[in-house]
Amino acid sequence: MKKWTRLLTALMAALLICGMFAACGKGSEVAEIKKSGKLVVLTSSDFPPFEYQGEEGGTIGVDMEICQAIADELGVELEVVDMDFADIPAAVAAGKGHIAAAGMTVTEERRQIMDFTESYLPAAQYLLVPAGSGIKTAADLEGKVVGVQVGTTGDHFATQQGNAKSIERYATLTEASAALMSGKLDAVVVDELPARAIAAQNADKLEVAGEKLTEEEYALGIAKDSDLLKKANKVIAELKEEGKIDAFVSNHSMK
Ligand code: ARG
Repeated sequence: MKKWTRLLTALMAALLICGMFAACGKGSEVAEIKKSGKLVVLTSSDFPPFEYQGEEGGTIGVDMEICQAIADELGVELEVVDMDFADIPAAVAAGKGHIAAAGMTVTEERRQIMDFTESYLPAAQYLLVPAGSGIKTAADLEGKVVGVQVGTTGDHFATQQGNAKSIERYATLTEASAALMSGKLDAVVVDELPARAIAAQNADKLEVAGEKLTEEEYALGIAKDSDLLKKANKVIAELKEEGKIDAFVSNHSMK
C-alpha cells in the first residue's frame, strides 16, 4: 500500500511539473528580446505614411514610431526587416520577427495564426484612380481592370465585389501604383492614408474617389500567446492617451 501511495505521489508531482511547463509555453518572449537586445519588426515599406523609405535611407513611418516606443519601453534597439506584405503573417507566426507592423488590418483569418494588439487607428479601403476618371464607387468597377496588393484587405474587397473585368495582384503597392500611373489599371483598391499619400505625390495624375468602401482597424501582429502582447498594448494605450498616434500620422503625411 505504501508503495502505491509513493508511486501515486511521484506521478502527481510529475503531472504538476508538466503542467507548469505547459503554462509557461515557449517561455518569455520579452525576456528573449531583452537578452538579444533587439526588437525585430516585420514590415512592407511601400505604405506611406505607415512605413516608407526615408530620404536618408531606412524605413520610417507611423508604425515604426510605435515600434520604436515599444523598443524603448523594453530598453532595446529596433531592427526593421522588409518583406512582401503577403508573407508577413506567416513570418511573425513562425517567429521570424517579434512584431508585424505593416498597416495591418485585424481580420479573423489572420487571427487564426497570430494575436493582435489593441487597435491603434481606424482604417478604410478607398479607390485610387486616374484624375477625372469618373470612377467613384465600387459599382463603377464593373468591367474595369483593378489593381491590388496581393493578400491585403483591398485584394479581399475587390475579389468579393466580383464585378471587375480582371484583378491584377502585385507584391507591392509601389508596383500597383506604377501600373495605375502607366495606364495598365483603371483603379487600385487600397487603404485611405496610403491612397491619399500616393495621390498627393502625383497630384495632377491620381485622385482618391469619394466613398469609403470598408471599416477596418489597424493593429500590430504578434506570435500567439506571447508576453510581448501585454507590453505592446501598454505602449499603444499610452501613445493613444497622449495623442501621439495622431501626431505621428500628421508628421508622416505630406504638408
Ligand atoms: N490594411 C491592409 C491589410 O491589412 C493593407 C496593408 C498593406 N500594408 C503594407 N505595408 N503594404 O491587408
